[in-house]
Amino acid sequence: MSHTIQGFSRLTKDEKIAWLTSNFLPSNTNATQILKQYWNDDQKLQQLHDEFIENTISNYYLPLGIAPNFIINNKSFAIPMAIEESSVVAAASKAAKFWMSRGGFKAEILGTEKIGQVHFTFSGDSKKISAFFEEQKAQIIEDLKPHTESMERRGGGLKSLELVNKTNALEHYYQLHATFETLDAMGANFINTCLEQIAESWQRLYNEKASFKSADQELVVIMSILSNYVPGCVVRAEVSCPVSELSEADGIDPQLFANKFVQAVRIAEVEPYRAVTHNKGIMNGIDAVVLATGNDFRAIEAAAHAYAAKDGNYSSLTHATIEDGIFKFWIEIPLALGTVGGLTKLHPLVKLNLEMLGNPSAPQLMEIIAVAGLAQNFGAVKSLTTTGIQKGHMKMHLMNMLNQFEASEEEKNQAIQHFKTNKVTYSAVGNLITNLRKSAQNA
Ligand code: MEV
Repeated sequence: MSHTIQGFSRLTKDEKIAWLTSNFLPSNTNATQILKQYWNDDQKLQQLHDEFIENTISNYYLPLGIAPNFIINNKSFAIPMAIEESSVVAAASKAAKFWMSRGGFKAEILGTEKIGQVHFTFSGDSKKISAFFEEQKAQIIEDLKPHTESMERRGGGLKSLELVNKTNALEHYYQLHATFETLDAMGANFINTCLEQIAESWQRLYNEKASFKSADQELVVIMSILSNYVPGCVVRAEVSCPVSELSEADGIDPQLFANKFVQAVRIAEVEPYRAVTHNKGIMNGIDAVVLATGNDFRAIEAAAHAYAAKDGNYSSLTHATIEDGIFKFWIEIPLALGTVGGLTKLHPLVKLNLEMLGNPSAPQLMEIIAVAGLAQNFGAVKSLTTTGIQKGHMKMHLMNMLNQFEASEEEKNQAIQHFKTNKVTYSAVGNLITNLRKSAQNA
């Protein structure tokens, strides 16, 4: 039997759910209720969320946590994080507190340039098309003015436009490579609109004015789109302190800790298998704040990993050194973010999260988010090189496991007490709950 449908988008929400459940969840009698229990009672708010995307049937909750005690460039922040993974917010908070008494985090913007390209093919003489582009460039930029004027008034807009010959990589392939400054906007819509206008002008000018144009010297625009690879939109965040100040109450020798930490980062620099996991830990922190502030985490992920491979090998996004007794740990990462446009003014929680961060500009948000990534990585590598990751992680994960066993409040309290001094594993939690229930029955 076919489970396809025409005109699904035109059904009401209830009709969509009815079609979905009868076709794909026929034996789940709770399906409709599960979907509907996440609907917001406030109909206006629900409609706002419905209209963010298409074919909405419900809301998908993620917890929103707070990592307090971040000092960034001498200013304090409580950072909102939207993430499903236990331990991440705790690790960020712990790292923030650790560095709070050691000078905090320093962050600086290395660049804010965004990139877009018009990809086209041209089968004629490359010198002629390059010369023709130089002749027409001013007109292309002039045609673009209606789209860039407002951005230009505020100091942004198109910054450069060049023809790039890529025929060595692919026969007949060229691009118009554009750079943009989009200020506090992530800029995807602005850049794509500009690129489509550039492509239109370029094609028209070629058709109308290229004296060398002929059937065998065709110019075909293939596509116009921003690049999510933004190696010119980069932020650097750093922590440093004398090695001797790395000691904590847990008594780990600070020099040994610093050496192991730096070695662990070097391993991530040279070993891609480790680098991917190391960077995944960084992205735990970054994505959580990117999501909480209504930004596009897929774009951020794509750019970060491309940047991690910019020198030809996939490597660590963070680096660490010990020089003259000073431990230094830093991250350099591309972050194309917006604090205006997109969801930023629409989603009430995004608005609130930005407000608690002091309504930052996009560059300020780049600094905050880079710091969240660095803190996350510090927490992970610190655990990995000292206690091991599982001890803390399983403690944080305990509540999830107890919920899986449908533990009562009383059982949860007893389990928390028990695991203060015992190792948390899935089977240990299961055994404890079974024993607690047995003793309750026998009592
Ligand atoms: C888990 O989500 C992230 C870590 O694996 C990161 C790391 O290994 O550095 C703990």
